[in-house]
Amino acid sequence: MAHSFEDMFGRAVNLMAARMPPTPPETVDSFLTSPGLFYVRNHGPVPQVREDEIQDWEFSIEGLVENPMTLTLRQLMSEYEQVTYPITLVCAGNRRKEQNQVRKSKGFSWGAAGLSTALFTGVVMSDVIRRARPLRGARYVCMEGADKLPNGFYGTSVKLNWAMDDNKGIMLAYKMNGEMLRPDHGKPLRAVVPGQIGGRSVKWLKKLIITNAPSDNWYHIYDNRVLPTMVSPDESANNPRWWYDERYAIYDLNVNSAITYPAHGERLSLIGLPENYRIKGYAYGGGGRRVSRVEISLDKGRTWQLSDINYPEDLYRGVNQQLYGGQLDMSWRESCFCWCFWSLSIKVSELKEADDILVRAMDEAMNIQPRDMYWSVLGMMNNPWFRVAIIKDGNLLQFEHPTQPALIPGGWMERVKSAGGDLTNGHWGEQFGGGGSAPIERAVEAEVKMTKDGVDRIITIDELRRHGNADQPWFVLNGEVYDGTEFLGGHPGGAQSIISAAGLDSTEEFMAIHSETAKAMMPKYHVGSLDGVSRVALREGDPQGQSIEKRKVFLQPRAWTKAALLEKRIVSWDTRIFVFQLEHQEQTLGLPVGQHLMVRLRDPVTGEAVIRSYTPITEIKEKGLLEVLVKIYFDTEEIKGGRMTLALDALPLGRFVDFKGPIGKFEYLGRGSCTIGGELRQVKSFLMICAGSGVTPIYQVFRAIIQDPEDSTYCVVLDGNRLFEDILCKQELDAYATENSDRCKVVYTLTKAHEEWDGMRGRISGDLIREHMPWSEGTMALICGPEALETSVRKWLSEQGWKNSDMVFF
Ligand code: MTE
Repeated sequence: MAHSFEDMFGRAVNLMAARMPPTPPETVDSFLTSPGLFYVRNHGPVPQVREDEIQDWEFSIEGLVENPMTLTLRQLMSEYEQVTYPITLVCAGNRRKEQNQVRKSKGFSWGAAGLSTALFTGVVMSDVIRRARPLRGARYVCMEGADKLPNGFYGTSVKLNWAMDDNKGIMLAYKMNGEMLRPDHGKPLRAVVPGQIGGRSVKWLKKLIITNAPSDNWYHIYDNRVLPTMVSPDESANNPRWWYDERYAIYDLNVNSAITYPAHGERLSLIGLPENYRIKGYAYGGGGRRVSRVEISLDKGRTWQLSDINYPEDLYRGVNQQLYGGQLDMSWRESCFCWCFWSLSIKVSELKEADDILVRAMDEAMNIQPRDMYWSVLGMMNNPWFRVAIIKDGNLLQFEHPTQPALIPGGWMERVKSAGGDLTNGHWGEQFGGGGSAPIERAVEAEVKMTKDGVDRIITIDELRRHGNADQPWFVLNGEVYDGTEFLGGHPGGAQSIISAAGLDSTEEFMAIHSETAKAMMPKYHVGSLDGVSRVALREGDPQGQSIEKRKVFLQPRAWTKAALLEKRIVSWDTRIFVFQLEHQEQTLGLPVGQHLMVRLRDPVTGEAVIRSYTPITEIKEKGLLEVLVKIYFDTEEIKGGRMTLALDALPLGRFVDFKGPIGKFEYLGRGSCTIGGELRQVKSFLMICAGSGVTPIYQVFRAIIQDPEDSTYCVVLDGNRLFEDILCKQELDAYATENSDRCKVVYTLTKAHEEWDGMRGRISGDLIREHMPWSEGTMALICGPEALETSVRKWLSEQGWKNSDMVFF
């Protein structure tokens, strides 16, 4: 079954290309989520644990136990029975963006993709607790992580009898899909609590404390709860008693489902297509309960059709074998801890008549998804029927999901709301033509007042910009100026997000992610109003204010344009592909081959703008997306890491980044023609020398040449790196080189190669250059790498008779 997780984003990510461990029973391709797509939910900075410290990682079992213990990961791995189980983790905020559309909750906007599945390897938690021998009166297991957050370490609890019940599958895991845990997922040790919300699966686990009462950790009390729906953000802030009522704490997941196909934005032509369309999606139950049915309605819930369900988890029940160092044996356990996939073939003619597709799932305890949303202050456990609207456009049907994740605009909820529909009117806010639906009354949302009475200071843009730093960060919301200085320490999102907004108009982001409570706090920080001219100037400096519909090309040479971070693909431990969404799907990047763009971010610590140039790996003809391959320079004991790359790595999805360009003196026009500083040149062959991430501009030109069968320009790429793992774009370069050996050659040389490496060793040298491409008429050298390499290459080339005008340093 080709069920792809990424479909919910409506974008083409090839899951099969992602590194996937072999799974024991031949299972469906995307039952297990690839590491790069596995969702990440961290409340603060990720604790850094060095490779050589992993085995010595210590955690304690203390509290109401006869035999308190401290164990190392080494002991856990050697002294206990190891197990491997497939488990789906689901964030309690999955589908929260729908809640935020109805009324802003205190939580950020997950789409329907806040869940992922992996094979976890570790030790059953009860084995460890049993050795510590809990005392009489012990009822809870409190867990604490190593991540130090504004309100203490992250921690929570589950009931002791659940932890001791092997049917519940609660474990201490150190591997995911056969790999040691990655930093984001709790490296080196985490709890995994199947069937319950992800928030109970504490990462970077340091303590298990056995107690007679639930955890009193701040994050256990003020997070992961569904307060009664009438409790407003204000009421919850003024009356802490709501948070202390353990009845409102969430443990088991509730039954939920979503549609993946049709994807958001998918179009279906009514002409000449097969008669049927297969609707697909996922479903999960909570507490180990099996999803017992998934039903589809095309008439707003009057009638329902039963879909087919595939339970890939069941394929693992039939085996009893070692996997990734743990015993995989689920034959004795009936519980369902993983998502399942449903599908239903529908007549296209039926879809044509329908306004929407609705799905609901039921579990084996007959819990069923409700029609209406249960809104609550944290926006968690959202599980009403998942609805995909059908927009008719002549002979085309276009499908619209409820929302697009994070700050990405789109979805029927936003459309309906901005047209004045009341999303809680029982008809999803829509006014269906002739459907007999009740007339819609426009919802009037009380605006929260964010200004302070009596503040009448007029502020100019110059004054604002003088506060565009970390010392006294001022920012603008709806033309009003706020001073964030006093709130730097207390801001739940960290000081960094205020500093990043300094000197800028942050209306869009602020309004999108802040609750009414947060808005109601703003008068305290209000310092004045921006004058009219400055408001215009601020807006004009921000191309988002322009009509983006009209702009076919994203990059502008004299103004910064913003694109939202859509995805962060992990290529290796220190390399990522950052995928940004352009302003609309038809927009092209506007970057000629061989040129670069500038990226601007604010230093999270100082608030200063950090600007670097990059060459994206996006193909010229690609629309709507911008992909940048970046090697992250982490802090080491001796050297401070890269400011830009660390800031990029810390960016949450949905955050806007500024881009400007194109820049660069070289442009490749195709078929040997290029310009240097505007001067036209004809080239017969290119010598391309690069190292590390310097490959990106080289790769761009190389790809353009090789992709054009009529381009006879010969290319030699000399790519120098330390380790094999450091070679970027290798797969792509090799694929082109193998298929076009008459037109190009790619040579790698490594200074710290593993023993198995059978390629070149050592640094790029003058001899290597002479061997692979001596100078001749019509050759040109393109060079991109660290300064030392560039200086040496210049020297060697000059010695070998190359003229300065034949060398381009990126
Ligand atoms: N554990 C610690 N120590 N700190 C955290 O911020 N987040 C929790 C949980 N465990 C968190 C944590 C939440 S809310 C979720 S949904 C899951 O981890 C997410 O796990 P993942 O990032 O591996 O997908």
